Amino acid sequence: MSEHKEPSRRDATAPAGNAARPVTLRINGQSHTLQLEPRTTLLDALREVMHLTGTKKGCDRGQCGACTVLSNGRRIQSCLTLAVMQEGRDLTTIEGLSDGDALHPVQAAFVAHDALQCGFCTPGQICSAVGMLAEARAGEASAVQPLAAPTLPLGDEEIRERMSGNLCRCGAYPKIVAALREVGGRQGKR
Ligand code: FES
Ligand code: FES
Repeated sequence: MSEHKEPSRRDATAPAGNAARPVTLRINGQSHTLQLEPRTTLLDALREVMHLTGTKKGCDRGQCGACTVLSNGRRIQSCLTLAVMQEGRDLTTIEGLSDGDALHPVQAAFVAHDALQCGFCTPGQICSAVGMLAEARAGEASAVQPLAAPTLPLGDEEIRERMSGNLCRCGAYPKIVAALREVGGRQGKR
C-alpha cells in the first residue's frame, strides 16, 4: 500500500526564503518596483538600490536618527524598518522635501541659521523636524508636557526633547534649535 503524502502548502511559484522578490515602494511621489530580499531594510533599499544617498547610515541600529525619513508623514528610522513593511505607504526622503528649486521651510531655516557643520546628520535632522512639527501642530504631547497639547510656538525645551532622537556628533544643536524655533510656531505650513 502506497504511503499518502500531504501536498506542500507552499506555493511552488513563490520565492523561497530570502530570495529577492518584487516590492513596490512609493518614494517622493513616484512608485518603484524593486527586487529586494525580504530582509532588506528601507535604508538599504533607499541608498543601495534607489541611490537616494541623502538618507544617511550612521549607526544602523536605531540610535542616531541619521536615517530618518517620513512614512505617511510620520518620522521613522529607516534602518529599523524592512522595505517590504512600507508597501502601500507614502515615503518622503530628504530628496523629496523641496518643491523644485524652492526649499522646504525647514531646509531654508537650516541654511539661514547655518545649522550644520559636517552635514552628515542634517538630512535626518530635517526630515525628523518636519515630522516633529506636524506632530506638535496636531497637538501631540511630549515628555516635556506629557499631559497637555504643546503650546505653539514651541519653546527650546520642547524642541530639544522632541528632536532628542537625532544626534549630531558636531554639536550643532544650538543652531538646529534656533532654526526650528523660527519655523516651529507656524500654523498650517509644510
Ligand atoms: S542609522 Fe538609523 S538610527 Fe542610526
Ligand atoms: S553636522 Fe556633523 S553630525 Fe551633525
